Order: sequence, then structure tokens, then C-alpha cells
Amino acid sequence: MAEKYYITTPIYYPSGNWHIGHCYTTVICDALARFHKMKGEDVFFLTGTDEHGQKVEKEALKRGITPLEFIDPLVSQLKDMWRLLDVDYNRFLRTTDGDHVKCVQHIYQKLYESGDIYKAEYEGYYCTPCEAFWTESQLKEGKCPDCGRPVTKQKEESYFFRLSKYAPRILKLYEDNPQFLQPTSRVNEMVNNFLKAGLTDLSVSRTTVKWGIPLPFDERHTAYVWIDALSNYISALGYGTDDDKLYKTYWPANLHLVGKEIVRFHAIIWPAILMALGEPLPKQIYGHGWLLIGGEKLSKSKENARPELTDPYELVKRYGADAVRYYLLREIPFGSDGEYTTERFLLRINADLANDLGNLVSRTQAMVWQNFEGKIPPCGEKEPLDEELISMCETLFERIDADMGALNAPEALSEVFALVARANKYIDETTPWILAKDPAKKARLGTVLYLLAEVCRMCAVALKPFLTVAPKKILRSFSCDENAGFESLKFGVLREGDAVEKLPPLFPRIDVKKELAAVEKFVKEHTPAASRHPEPTTCPPPASGGGVGEGVRPHSPQITIDDFSKVELKIGEVIACEKVAKSDKLLHETVKIGEEVRSVVSGIAKFYTPEEMVGKKVVVVTNLKPVTLRGVLSEGMILCAEDEAGNLCLLSPEKLVESGAVVK
Ligand code: MSP
Repeated sequence: MAEKYYITTPIYYPSGNWHIGHCYTTVICDALARFHKMKGEDVFFLTGTDEHGQKVEKEALKRGITPLEFIDPLVSQLKDMWRLLDVDYNRFLRTTDGDHVKCVQHIYQKLYESGDIYKAEYEGYYCTPCEAFWTESQLKEGKCPDCGRPVTKQKEESYFFRLSKYAPRILKLYEDNPQFLQPTSRVNEMVNNFLKAGLTDLSVSRTTVKWGIPLPFDERHTAYVWIDALSNYISALGYGTDDDKLYKTYWPANLHLVGKEIVRFHAIIWPAILMALGEPLPKQIYGHGWLLIGGEKLSKSKENARPELTDPYELVKRYGADAVRYYLLREIPFGSDGEYTTERFLLRINADLANDLGNLVSRTQAMVWQNFEGKIPPCGEKEPLDEELISMCETLFERIDADMGALNAPEALSEVFALVARANKYIDETTPWILAKDPAKKARLGTVLYLLAEVCRMCAVALKPFLTVAPKKILRSFSCDENAGFESLKFGVLREGDAVEKLPPLFPRIDVKKELAAVEKFVKEHTPAASRHPEPTTCPPPASGGGVGEGVRPHSPQITIDDFSKVELKIGEVIACEKVAKSDKLLHETVKIGEEVRSVVSGIAKFYTPEEMVGKKVVVVTNLKPVTLRGVLSEGMILCAEDEAGNLCLLSPEKLVESGAVVK
């Protein structure tokens, strides 16, 4: 029977301001899941959204909509982002899903009945953005020790979980099983910062938060969001329900991969809950490092995530999913933090993908066409140099398997690219262009090109867990099965005479200097002025001129009615409006368009106050791709007329018309 592999990402807050840092955990999980699948294991890969709690409740209230009306479009966006990045999960769990809600209630009931949950009064501090409780002594200068933001004092009736009781068992768990929490530096953090001082019991219910799962034994209370969220790892498998087949099959998880800031919840609270339930513990929790900007965590709340530069939708559109995945999987030493800059991103994809891999494939295919009419040549006698290259190919899997066993995708990729580099050097050493000049050397030339084609094929197979587009293209171009697994990482698979396709450049080379200048110009033009036209396709084309991004379409003086009908225009009613923080030009409107409610950012703050906007009927472009501007989601564009002096004036229907009416 195939070995089971259960891997999870954290479930994401429906914040809507996703940046490339958010993609880090999930892309790594996806690569691990794909790797284990290719090894023939039975993989279950879970991700989802963490939808309850005070943050969502407040945001929805502010907009005058229900929490679900607020969350649903954000969940679709997150799913879109995973689709764009080719993230292939088995389940996307929402904590508002019925089976999850039932499971959380089951967990609370069980712990209440066993005496691990009891009623008392909570007095302490709460950080809403982190959804975390703190005691006075844990605060840093009166603020949240994790994020540095203000906390609120809370005093309310609450149910408590006997976390204190489990501290000794958790310490012993770390001692007996060093693999449980990795990297080891995280163990020291947990022990020194939390466990050494002893744990206090944890408040696990709220009476003041309505947007949560009601406790089965006391409906006035809702579940604490972190207990709700952590339970997703077993609720997704049907734990506590009549249909727990998946739970019996896949639990315990092989890996919970999480960012280091949420290790505390995963490595202390989660095992304690499972211990209290009498259930097995996950095999490993790994707390990875962060993508930083200017030395600080790339974060929506720190406002260092310039959406123009860090928005995954933009990056994928501009450079392709493979480039973004490659950067995330290759650049940052696993377990450590890494500084994110556009330059480093571009240099990395240019050097490895465009130059090394792209060149190897295009040189090989060009030579096969020049000398063997686009057919796989016969492989003749091999020389020691060939044997060395073959052995490097045939031992590749062992090396990447060891690296991926240690979750080390950067190292695994560096093994593949060491082979790419070796093959490029082999071209220089064997000088096929000289062999080609001498008809007597044709057999040798065939062998050299056969070997090179084999290296291209094997690199493509080895890259499949990491990149999802280029490897398949490469395999198809050598007449190979794009579904080939690791068993094909052996020499001699290519068949003499099979067709070889000459691929266009897999990764167009980027002129980094020009590209950086283009991006900088784009940012200048679009912050905040772009807010009037918050449409992602306004991004300039890559400086390479090569077809990765879409780029600006040239302005055409005339369009047909079909062109015009592509733009969806509707009447919307502004139901809430506020200024966008730290911007003197941007307003953030909540617009009701028929039954739907959207968040829209527009550059009209100099011409209208938020108060003036509320109640206005406006014309909205409703089929623009969403973007984030100054960290705020914009799902459309409000139309204005602009005079020569740059003054803006809203367009409104001249008669009473319902919101949602189509403009044509
Ligand atoms: N909802 C909680 C998790 C509950 S799991 C039971 C949460 N959500 S999150 O949306 O804030 O974060 C999701 C993931 O994105 C986390 O793994 C987090 O560490 C990761 N990242 C967010 N910003 C990041 C960087 N700048 N760099 C790397 N990963 C980061 O936490």
C-alpha cells in the first residue's frame, strides 16, 4: 500500500491584501506535495481560510454588510491566487464550512466533559490583529509583543482550557522527539519564552465576539479563533463526525508548515489540545522564516508591501507562475529570513531560468535540428566524460530526495541546477559545433546530443514538483510523457528518431536594468495616481520585450462595439467610504452593486470627502481584475470625467435607477 503523506498550510485570514510573502508557505507545501506524489505516495494537501473572529466582524460592520458578504469575494480571490500559482490542494477548508463547525463543537464538548475546559473570568489583554491573549507582564511597552500594536484590556466571563496541565508533557515531547519542532532554534524560543515560566490556562471562548462558532454547552460564548483555526487540520478529515475515513487514513499529519510567528500556537496549544483529546500528534511542525523588505517582515500591516511590487497577481502576470514559484522555492535558505527585492527576484530568474536552463534546452534543440533534422540522434559509444554526466543524472534523485526529506527545496533545486550547469559546461568541453564540421565525427556528435537531450529530459522530470509549466513543455518537446515520474530518472529513455520540437525561449531573458527602470516608472506613475485606474493590465511590458507579461496595449483610436462590450459597467451605490491611510489622494468606497458589495479604491480624495460619497450612485467598471492599492483591495473602478486642469467629477445617472443597473 502506498505510503500516506498529509501536509498542511496554515489557513489564511481573509484579509485580501495578499503579497508574495503570503505565497511562501503554500508554494513550498505545494512543491512538497507534488514531490511526494511523484514518489508514488498517497498525498493529502490541505489549505483554506480562517474566517471567524473580531477582525472580520469589525470589518464587515464597518461596511454595513454581513461577515460572509465581506469574506466570500476574498476567498474567491485567494483561490484565484492559488490557481494562478498552480497550487494543487486536495481540500480548501473554510472555517465556516458546516463539517468544520460541527467538528469544533465536538472538540469543545469532549474537552468540557473531560474537565479540560472550565468556566472562569478572563482578565487580561487582547491583540485583535493577532487574535492573541496576553498577560500584563508579557506586553512590550504596553503593546502586543508579536506585532507591536495596541492591545485592549478585557474582562469577561470565559471558558478556559487547562493548558498549564500540559506544559511538562510538551517539554518532554520536545526532548524525546527533536523532529517534532524544527528548526531547533524554534524549540529554544518556545522553551525560553513560554514553557520555562510555566503556562497559564488559556481563555478559549468569547462572549463579546458574535462572529464565531457557538459553544455547544453554552451558546452565549463563541470559540476562540485559534482553537477554531487549529482544529481545521483534523476537521478537514472528518474527525468527530460519522464519516472519519479520511481521518483514519491520513492523521497524524506528516507536516504542518507555518511561518515562524505562529509556531507558538502550533507547537504549544495544538499538541496540548490533541493530548487532551487523546489523539496522536502531528509528526512535524516546521516554522519557516519570512520574506523581508528593508529588514522587516513583508506585511500588510507594516505597509511595506508596496502592492505594485509584491502583488502575486501582478508578478505572475508579468513573469509567469514558474518564475514566481522558482524565486520562492530557491532564493531563501530554508528556515531563515530573506530580503525581497525586485532586483534579486529578476536576477534569480534571469540567471537560473533564462540563462542556465533556457540556454541548455535551446542550444540542445537547435543543434538537434541543425544536425539531425529535428530527430533524437542515436547514442553511440560513450566516453568517460559522458559517463560522468550520466552518473550525475542517475544519482540526482537520491540527492533531491534527501534534500526534500529535510524540506529543503532550495538545496534540491540547487542540485538540479548544478546538473544544468554541468551540462552547459559539457557543451563547451565537447564542442559539438566543431564535431559538426567533420562528417567522420557524426556518430560522436549524435552521442553528445543524445546525452544533452537526456539531461534536458531528466532535469525537466526533476523540476516537476517545483515548476509547473516549463518542465511539461520540455518533456513534450522531446516527445516524452509529461506525466513521467521519478522512475524515469535513468539514462536511455529517449528513443532514437523521435521528433524534437524547437521551443521558443522558455524564459525570455530580462534586461534587469531596463526592467527595474520600467517598474520604478510604473510605481511612480501609479502611486497614488494609478488609483484612478487601478487596473493591473496597465503594468508596462517586461523590458525583455518577450512574451511573459501582457504589458500595455497600444492606445487604439477606434474600437468596435465588440471591444466596447468587453467592459462591464454598472450602477453602484456607495454605502460606506473612508480615506486610505497615508494617502492624500485615495478614498476607499464600499459599493453596493445589485446584490453584490465591493471594495473600490479611487483617486478622488482631493475632490470629494468620504461623507459626500456615501449615498452617491456612481458608474462602476465591474469586470476589472482586482488589485490592491496601498494595501486596500480594489474590485472595480468608479468612472469620473477629468477636465484639462485635472479636476475630477463623478459620473452619476441623471434619473433614479436601482444599483446593479447595467450601463451600456
Ligand atoms: N490564520 C492564521 C493561521 C491559522 S493556522 C491554524 C494566519 N494567517 S495569515 O494569513 O496571516 O498567514 C498565512 C501564512 O502566510 C503564514 O504561514 C504566514 O507565516 C505566512 N506569511 C505572511 N507573511 C509572510 C512573509 N512576509 N514571509 C513569509 N511568510 C509569511 O497566520
